[in-house]
Amino acid sequence: MRAAYINQPGPPENIVVGELPTPHPGADQVLVKVAATAVNPIDTYIRSGAVAMPLPKPFIVGCDLAGVVEAAGPDAKRFKTGDRVWCSCQGVLGRQGTFAEYAAVDESFLYPIPEGVTDETAAACALVSLTAHLGLVRDAGLKAGETLFVNGGTGGVGSMVVQISKAIGTRVVTAAGSEEKLAKARSFGADLAINYKTDDVPVRVNEFAPEGINVWWETLREPDFDRTVSLLAPRGRMILMAGRDARPPFPVGPFYVKGCQLYGFAMFAATTDELRTAADDVNRWLAAGQIKPCIDRVLPLAETATAHRLQEESTVGKSGKLAGKIVVKL
Ligand SMILES: NC(=O)c1ccc[n+]([C@@H]2O[C@H](COP(=O)([O-])OP(=O)(O)OC[C@H]3O[C@@H](n4cnc5c(N)ncnc54)[C@H](OP(=O)(O)O)[C@@H]3O)[C@@H](O)[C@H]2O)c1
Repeated sequence: MRAAYINQPGPPENIVVGELPTPHPGADQVLVKVAATAVNPIDTYIRSGAVAMPLPKPFIVGCDLAGVVEAAGPDAKRFKTGDRVWCSCQGVLGRQGTFAEYAAVDESFLYPIPEGVTDETAAACALVSLTAHLGLVRDAGLKAGETLFVNGGTGGVGSMVVQISKAIGTRVVTAAGSEEKLAKARSFGADLAINYKTDDVPVRVNEFAPEGINVWWETLREPDFDRTVSLLAPRGRMILMAGRDARPPFPVGPFYVKGCQLYGFAMFAATTDELRTAADDVNRWLAAGQIKPCIDRVLPLAETATAHRLQEESTVGKSGKLAGKIVVKL
């Protein structure tokens, strides 16, 4: 089968697109014929070696996929040949990745693709929708009527946080870096979209929510806790999920006097039950058209290295070149 893989961590040029043996599904695995995958920042950290993980050799890059069940192991009972499925959490913790014509996936990680939802949509939503759900629902317990802020309303995670928060019934404020991106964030349902390059974000947030922000989702890799805690409502919650190397100062007094709470998580550490609970809601919202992916572009497998470079330049280098996801089609 054709696959995009590395023999050792390093720059995007280490990605080889070539032939590898087609995997055989294990007893409780399903062999999926992959139709579409999507790039996530974690793919680039693992590929570069910035995040050290046990890697199969060769290591196929990528966490997400959407495709069709080709075969199932003897103990895999949830899906049958021909079913359309999506998943995330491959390509981490020693599992093989998804950027290949076929992937053998534990059935506990697979979810059905709702009728009418395309492979590109399912792949582009996979990791980012599960991430948004885990943070908003499992951790912060976001409720209808609350006010949420998220940086990067057209980013991979941010665009899902905006839409899932709206599906829950929340007032949503977001920030983005261009007028085009602000318009896109509004199209996802943001009630207020602020240009972080030209506007005074704290002033605009205060005007919109003088009583404070109930849930602050931080996508930035260097959070400004002084600013954020001052904008939180009493008993406000803050979600941290980016910036492994960040060590910013923290305003202890203002935080506890307001009775605030702080949540941190890595989505790939969630249990398969937690992930399935999230996927069930995501599928319901996808089927109802309440959430849709923010897809920047679709590339062929042969351009996986280009996709990694673009993702790195945008997420880590802050080039602003991407608005959302790069989908890679098989
Ligand atoms: N913990 C987990 O489980 C988990 C899961 C998924 C992702 N992550 C991490 O979360 C981060 C975001 O991931 P992603 O896939 O959403 O990346 P992304 O698509 O590159 O999004 C990053 C967003 O940040 C915005 N941004 C950059 N500087 C900003 C600023 N000063 N103010 C406001 N917004 C700003 C960008 O907005 P513009 O484009 O408008 O500039 C962009 O929308 C990454 O570090 C990733 O590794 C963690």
